[in-house]
Amino acid sequence: MSKRPMALTLGAIALGCCIVAIQPGRAVHADDDFDRDSHQGAASPAKHAERMIAEGRQTFRFDTFGDEDFWGGTLELHKAVEGAKLGGVGPGLSPLAALTAGLKVDVDALPRGVREQIEAGQVNLNDPAVTLALLRFRSVVGLTGFFNESGGLRSIGIQCALCHSTVDNSLAPGIGRRLDGWANRDLNVGAVVALAPNLKPVANLLHVDVPTLKKVVLAWGPGKFDAEVFLDGKGFRPDGKSAATLIPPAFGLAGVNLHTWTGWGSIPYWNAFVANLEMHGKGRFFDPRLNNRDQFPIAAENGLGDLPHISPDEDRITKKLPALHLYQLSLKAPKPKAGKDFDAEAAERGDALFSGKAKCNNCHVEPAWTEPGWNMHTPQDVCVDSFQADRAPDHQYRTAPLGGLFTHQKGGFYHDGRFPTLGDVVNHYDSCFSLGLTPYEKSDLVQYLLSL
Ligand code: HEC
Ligand code: HEC
Repeated sequence: MSKRPMALTLGAIALGCCIVAIQPGRAVHADDDFDRDSHQGAASPAKHAERMIAEGRQTFRFDTFGDEDFWGGTLELHKAVEGAKLGGVGPGLSPLAALTAGLKVDVDALPRGVREQIEAGQVNLNDPAVTLALLRFRSVVGLTGFFNESGGLRSIGIQCALCHSTVDNSLAPGIGRRLDGWANRDLNVGAVVALAPNLKPVANLLHVDVPTLKKVVLAWGPGKFDAEVFLDGKGFRPDGKSAATLIPPAFGLAGVNLHTWTGWGSIPYWNAFVANLEMHGKGRFFDPRLNNRDQFPIAAENGLGDLPHISPDEDRITKKLPALHLYQLSLKAPKPKAGKDFDAEAAERGDALFSGKAKCNNCHVEPAWTEPGWNMHTPQDVCVDSFQADRAPDHQYRTAPLGGLFTHQKGGFYHDGRFPTLGDVVNHYDSCFSLGLTPYEKSDLVQYLLSL
């Protein structure tokens, strides 16, 4: 943080870049993801799965699917990151501002010298040039900078890891080793989007002016995003609060039938949806449910239910779906530690309550923690309003899988974080189902939830 060794610091960073930047860009052989039978003789299923998981991880962490044409090319977000002094616009995005917005830095992508300088407080966290250096190392989780030959930032793209990974803060707050699949509940997606100098195309899509659009995205707050606003144009709920939902974890999903808070579809369904409609990657997407003009006026107007029939050579998404799917299935929910994350004795008593008096296991069926089969419920089934359910084709809520709950307590629980703590969730069920739980039982149940 001291300003003195600045010149030295940047020099070292600039030098380090050229060596390190090559490392994560490993060639990906996604073309043969849709494997043919002829491959079976060559590789055992285990080898095949291992290779696909590695490819899927690469996609999850580093693939923009060509979405830099949107985030950089159309919205010009890279110019706001760069700042006027370096050829962009505005003050630029300092590392401190980036970390404050919840962006994370992957310590393993940093050269040792830079790690040491950060540890010693010798890196100027107020200088946007340092942010550019971090982008050159490909160390900013979920963001890829594209540079021109003179070293300027040419464009910027986003990846799945932006929202669905965080870091363990091993070096400093916001800087550490990647934790893939963990929901980034610090990330203020709306604040990052609002930085973009040219929001007009998005405002036009939603038939609002730019100030209104900014109001909508800035209302999301940390850990939230609104995937449905680009389909139905609803920025706010009837009660005036933001219509955004929490970023869910992307681990512990194997064996779970329907995905997202409102059960839009399977993992490969949703991955195609997000990569095309939200990230604006280049691919094909088909879902005639989006042609429903009453429910999804924006999507219907723009033909989002059947995105252009581009040539397979231009499609940068479809061929990545199999490996991306397998990678997500491979991400287990992390295990909490007894004594540290929860009280083991209380959790044991809570276990008995979960499948007994509290009836939680009726829906959160151990060990999938959701129903085997059609894991959906009407809003009345869980005593909540239908606003968010009505923004999805089935008008229902999905029974949320509960593994690794201890990792995403920030931002609250249920799709919109309406219950700030697990205690509030249990109180809600206590009154919804007239369970008659005592305060001790409620607290035991909470400890059990933290142990999953
Ligand atoms: C801008 C933030 C953001 C990005 C980028 C993003 N997601 Fe998500 N993801 C979300 C939000 C928010 C939801 C919940 C959506 C809902 O329920 O309407 C979600 C839901 C999911 C789910 C469902 C989880 C569950 O509990 O069933 C999966 C799987 C997922 N995303 C995978 C991905 C993949 C793979 C990518 C990259 C192709 C990606 N996401 C990119 C924010 C993001
Ligand atoms: C009728 C089926 C049903 C029963 C019974 C049920 N749940 Fe749920 N649970 C759901 C649904 C559906 C959601 C998702 C609600 C939403 O997203 O708004 C959910 C969400 C949750 C969440 C929030 C997860 C997150 O990531 O935010 C927790 C925690 C939870 N339930 C715990 C429990 C406990 C504890 C019990 C027993 C007291 C219980 N549930 C009983 C259906 C049920």
